[in-house]
Amino acid sequence: TENELLNWQLPLAELHCHIDGTTSPALALRQARKYNVDISDVTNGDQFLWGNFSQFLDAYDRIAALFRDEADHKLLTFDYLKQLSEQGTIYSELFISPCHAEQSGLGAEHYVEALSTAAIEAKEAFGIECRFIVTGVRHYGAEKVTAAAKFAATCKAPLITGFGMAGDERFGDIRDYAAAFDIARDAGLGITVHSGEFAGAEEIERTIDSLRPDRLGHGVRAVESERLMKGIAEQGIVLECCPGSNIALGVFPSFEAHPLRLLKDAGCRITVSSDDPPFFKTTLKREYEIAAETHGFTEAELVELTREALCAAFIDARSRERLL
Ligand code: ADE
Ligand code: ZN
Repeated sequence: TENELLNWQLPLAELHCHIDGTTSPALALRQARKYNVDISDVTNGDQFLWGNFSQFLDAYDRIAALFRDEADHKLLTFDYLKQLSEQGTIYSELFISPCHAEQSGLGAEHYVEALSTAAIEAKEAFGIECRFIVTGVRHYGAEKVTAAAKFAATCKAPLITGFGMAGDERFGDIRDYAAAFDIARDAGLGITVHSGEFAGAEEIERTIDSLRPDRLGHGVRAVESERLMKGIAEQGIVLECCPGSNIALGVFPSFEAHPLRLLKDAGCRITVSSDDPPFFKTTLKREYEIAAETHGFTEAELVELTREALCAAFIDARSRERLL
């Protein structure tokens, strides 16, 4: 029953969460006061205010701009890892954005240093393991995404193990981003890209062909093509599904209409994540609950979600073994 699942101590793992998107409205207000910024148009203190995907992306940028120095970024990251561990999470992979940090006045090296310190302290305090995915923003253009890839490829921070791209997938031509992803792949980084959230099957196919990702952020609109689902299953590309995000942003009209079960039945490797939890009024635990309550995932299938996330994690073999 629902209650048994709620009380059950299942170890959780998450592959898809944007660090600035973990800011609570309360923390946003504190940061806004600290820097004397008016954010009354993006939060009422209780929730974030946005009406569609573009407005969400704008609100996200406004909130990200409230984190300016090392201490701000460290606080945000440590606090989120603490919340995750309270939910029973053993592993978290976070999308980080040197581009956002630089826009807010902090150099990429200092930014990564602050985040790494938070991750190390959280591991000491709570035992939670964490890795970082340097993330370019598609609608900032291919040049900035390439700069992010070059940084990721050369920065030598041990906790940076992946490269990804977020932002508006309706912007630009995905083939223009292939060079950036080549740089990241050649550096040995794991590759994930947001695709199939607001664009359909054809765009997902182009993305797979030109970027050769290990994982897809969302990828859920693959459900529109039997052939594509089969291809994703055969290639073993992992889907980072975020049902709560998809419903909040209107990708699907209801939790029942979300294709989590269909994708699994088609043989795709699926995981669940929270994306930007306070923006979408979700948590990682809630995403597991949605799988259980709406899509009938059994205890064994919930355990499999965690195992799949750990198998698909951008982490060294020895650390993976310790978690599995
Ligand atoms: N950046 C933060 N959250 C995102 C999402 N759900 N899609 C694309 N870009 C994002
Ligand atoms: Zn995302």
